[in-house]
Amino acid sequence: MKLIKTFVGCLCLMAMASCGEGNKSVKEDVTMDEGKNAVIETIMARRSIRKYKDEPVSREVLDQIMECGINAPNGQNKQSWEVRVVDKPEVMAEIKNTLNAAYPNMSDAAGCFRGAPVMVFLARAKSYDFSAYDCGLMAENMMLSAWSLGVGSICLGSPVRMINDNPACAPILERLGFSEGYEFCLCVGLGYADEAPAAKPRDKAKVKYVE
Ligand SMILES: Cc1cc2nc3c(=O)[nH]c(=O)nc-3n(C[C@H](O)[C@H](O)[C@H](O)COP(=O)(O)O)c2cc1C
Repeated sequence: MKLIKTFVGCLCLMAMASCGEGNKSVKEDVTMDEGKNAVIETIMARRSIRKYKDEPVSREVLDQIMECGINAPNGQNKQSWEVRVVDKPEVMAEIKNTLNAAYPNMSDAAGCFRGAPVMVFLARAKSYDFSAYDCGLMAENMMLSAWSLGVGSICLGSPVRMINDNPACAPILERLGFSEGYEFCLCVGLGYADEAPAAKPRDKAKVKYVE
């Protein structure tokens, strides 16, 4: 099973990498041995994970996920983002302690990180009006490539509000060290899933073809 997942992961990454090769004009189908499409399978199987195993994600795997993130489409290839990866438990604990102290009336403010052992903090360039979209697309590339490698994920907005809106959280932003002109705008939690949530229903009526 692990071998199949690794194989599927490799196919997915190859597909993603091939998108960056400008001289390839013919689309190659990314078909798995059972005749299924690996990218579509990964997209449809990914779910937000809110329960994680106490198991670290290796830097090698994280590097692959980050590589896929920065290969996301982005406006004018400005790469209008900055990324901070927190994978050390002691650094995450520091951040959580500051957050909990900043919200003394909440029983578990740091619960907004949903227990993910790795937290990726994304910041957008304030000077570029499409930067938030760039960051969103980057986050999706990270989450899909993660899932293709057997790593669960969750996109998180609530830590952004909690950290940006409360001056007592300034030490967190200082610790992350984003450059001047960048604003923290999204989190992606990563880790090995300890749950398998069902897909939430989607409203296909939102999609209409214009005839
Ligand atoms: C921009 C954005 C912000 C989100 N913020 C949170 C959050 O703060 N907490 C949380 O538990 N889930 C958060 N989610 C996850 C969504 O709740 C989830 O993607 C949605 O319910 C669909 O479920 P699925 O990802 O399993 O398909 C966020 C997702 C996005 C795209």
